[in-house]
Amino acid sequence: MRLSSKDQGFKNRPKNKLLVATDSLFFYSKTEAGKPRDIYEHRETNWLTFVHYPGVRKSNKNRLVFGYNLEPPQGRHWGLKQELIDHWVSKGWVRFRCRGCGYEHYEGEWKGCPQCGSCEFIPELKNPPKKIDSNWTNIQSYSQDPAFPTRNAEDLLKRVYEAASAEGDLVMDFFLGSGTATAAAQKMKRKWIGVEMGDHFNTYVLPRMKRVLAGEQTGISKEVNWQGGGFFKYCELEQYEDTLSKVECDTFLADQVMTPRVTPQIQANQSIPYEDVDIPGSLSCLTGKWIRKITPGEVEFQDGSKLNTDNFDRELIKPFIRW
Ligand SMILES: C[S@@+](CC[C@H](N)C(=O)[O-])C[C@H]1O[C@@H](n2cnc3c(N)ncnc32)[C@H](O)[C@@H]1O
Repeated sequence: MRLSSKDQGFKNRPKNKLLVATDSLFFYSKTEAGKPRDIYEHRETNWLTFVHYPGVRKSNKNRLVFGYNLEPPQGRHWGLKQELIDHWVSKGWVRFRCRGCGYEHYEGEWKGCPQCGSCEFIPELKNPPKKIDSNWTNIQSYSQDPAFPTRNAEDLLKRVYEAASAEGDLVMDFFLGSGTATAAAQKMKRKWIGVEMGDHFNTYVLPRMKRVLAGEQTGISKEVNWQGGGFFKYCELEQYEDTLSKVECDTFLADQVMTPRVTPQIQANQSIPYEDVDIPGSLSCLTGKWIRKITPGEVEFQDGSKLNTDNFDRELIKPFIRW
């Protein structure tokens, strides 16, 4: 599925091409059940009268609205099914407008106009919501945040979540940036996992998510009636080298005893139970020495020392294997 949404790439506009106005979102699913959901957009327009068409329907011709048995005009039939009318009534998209004084009735039984007593009314409905197609150019794609130029608009994420997930589903963004994906997910009651490697996780994403939980009212908050709440956990994944450098070990890693221990020893037929093991990398981690050169069967470290990568005590390296 390819969708359009405004890409404001004015800066990068090639001189000999038209300005690109679209961007692409791809929808993948392992099963049929994962197809995009129908989503709708509300249209703010005038109220319309109930649509009716020529011809008489003998059965099921009336519609029950606000407890009132509505007959179609003579020689015609209603264009809307009862179920749809019921649904729209529940949304507040149907009303009776009093012909006498203009009073508008939106819910409960209609027993004549409570204002002027007239029984004459016009049944009306809002222009029904429009099914959203692949043209998303009517919403913002980027939010105008000078502190974060690539920050997506929450509107865009809202639409993505509506089309591809339900409340309680898990969404994941591997490149959080400013954290729009997680902010919108929290507001839309999706579970989420976000990943970010930049320091702005601490200075931007984390404060933003705390504000979201506290009920901030920017972005889609009003639309989804966001009141705040929830919790999240975050953790920092450490580099293997960082972890190793922080390990405290009296007799093995922390002193030079380790070096003799990985001194080549012929250990024929002793194998490490993984494929594609990075032996030089593992030895570098184990010894804490930077690699200068790797040649077949040998790794040379910055201090000039060398280790045989074919024949050494592989049991030693097992806990430090890198692959
Ligand atoms: C273009 S920004 C994403 C903007 C985001 N959609 C928003 O609304 O703010 C991409 C982000 O991915 C992060 N990133 C890039 N490579 C990464 C990686 N390998 N692991 C985690 N984050 C990464 C960058 O630090 C950057 O913040």
